[in-house]
Amino acid sequence: MNTKVITCMEEDDKACLAEAGRILKAGGLVAFPTETVYGLGGDAFNPESSRKIYAAKGRPSDNPLIVHISKWEDIYRLVSGAPEHAARLETARRLADVFWPGPLTMILPKAEEVPDETTGGLRTVAVRLPSHKTALALIEAAGGYVAAPSANTSGRPSPTVAKYVLEDMNGRIDMIVDGGEVGIGLESTIVDLTVNPVEILRPGYVTEEMLQGLLGTVETDRTVFEGNSTQAPKAPGMKYRHYAPKGELTIVSGEETRIVPYVNAQLKLAKAAGKRTGIIAAEETLASYTADARKSLGSRTDGLGAAKRLYRILRELDDEGVEVIYAEAFESTGLGAALMNRLLKAAGHHVVEV
Ligand code: TXA
Ligand code: MG
Repeated sequence: MNTKVITCMEEDDKACLAEAGRILKAGGLVAFPTETVYGLGGDAFNPESSRKIYAAKGRPSDNPLIVHISKWEDIYRLVSGAPEHAARLETARRLADVFWPGPLTMILPKAEEVPDETTGGLRTVAVRLPSHKTALALIEAAGGYVAAPSANTSGRPSPTVAKYVLEDMNGRIDMIVDGGEVGIGLESTIVDLTVNPVEILRPGYVTEEMLQGLLGTVETDRTVFEGNSTQAPKAPGMKYRHYAPKGELTIVSGEETRIVPYVNAQLKLAKAAGKRTGIIAAEETLASYTADARKSLGSRTDGLGAAKRLYRILRELDDEGVEVIYAEAFESTGLGAALMNRLLKAAGHHVVEV
C-alpha cells in the first residue's frame, strides 16, 4: 500500500480533508493530529476498519479503541440509552461542559450498535471530543465517528510529529495528515464513569485535581504508579509494556545532590563496558551529567514543556543507538502524574532510590 502524506494546517481544513473523509467512509485508515498525540483513524462503526487498525499497529485485538466525535449530541449513538445509565450520562455532560473539546476520554456503557471490534469485546465504550481543529474537521468529513488509537506501532512511544507516524505506518495505512507538532504530547486522561466514585485509568493533561474540583471524590487506578501490583490495569492498553525505548532505562529518584554523582558513576561503569549512554534530565541539571547523549525535558517549572518533549526524546535515544539510559524522577502531582506514569512504563517500573 502507498501511504499518501498531505499537509493540512488549520486554515484550509475542510477542502484539504475531503479526500481523507472519503477514505475513512470507504473503510480506509488515515492518521491525523490531535491536541494530545497523532491518532490512527478508522470509521468506528465499520468492524473491518477496526480490524485494519489492529493489524496496522500490530496491536492485540482485546485492547479497545477510543471513539472520537466532533460534537456532544453525537455521543447518544455510542452510549446506552437504558434508564439505569442516565446518571452516568449526566456526569459525562457535566464533564463535557468543562473539559470538551479537549484531552479527556470518558468510559461509558456502550450502545448495542457499536461494534465489538471497536471496543475490544467490552460492554463499555471510550469517547473523546478533541479540540484540535484539523481533528474536528476530519471527524466531520468522515461522518462523525472516528475510532483512533495513537498512531504508533504497538509498544513504541506515541507520535507527536507526522515524521514518526510515517516511520511506523509507511505502507500500512492509506493517508497521513501532517498538521505539525501536537500541543500536549501525552495521551488524553481516561476516566471511567461506569464505577462509583469515578476512576482515572490513565492520567493526562486533565488532572485528578481538576476532576475532583468538579465531581468531588475521584480515584486513580493504583496500577498507574505501581509496577509490582498483582491487580490488572482497568484500561486494557495499560497492561502492555508501552513507550519502551530499545535501551535499558532506569529512573533515579531522591536528593538532587545524590542523584548526579550516583548517575555519573553508573554512566562511567556502562561506558567502561563499551555501552553507549544517555541521560534524560531537567534543563537545570543536564550539564552535570557525563552521558554520550544528553536530553533535556526543559525546566522543572515547565511541566507542559516536559510532557511535549518526552516521547520525542525516547525515539531520539533509539535512533542514536543508546543502550543504557538514566532519567531523573519528576514530581507526580498535576500534569507531573501523567509524565511520571509514562516514564515509569517506559522504564518497566525500574526505579532506584538514592
Ligand atoms: O490522546 C489520546 O487519547 C489518543 C488520541 C489519538 O486521541 N488516543 C489514544 O488511544 O491514546 P490508545 O488506543 O493509544 O489508548 C487508548 C487506551 C488504551 O489503554 C485502552 O485500553 C483504553 O484506552 N480503553 C479504550 N476503551 C476502553 C474501555 N472501554 N474501557 C477501558 N479502557 C479503555
Ligand atoms: Mg497508544
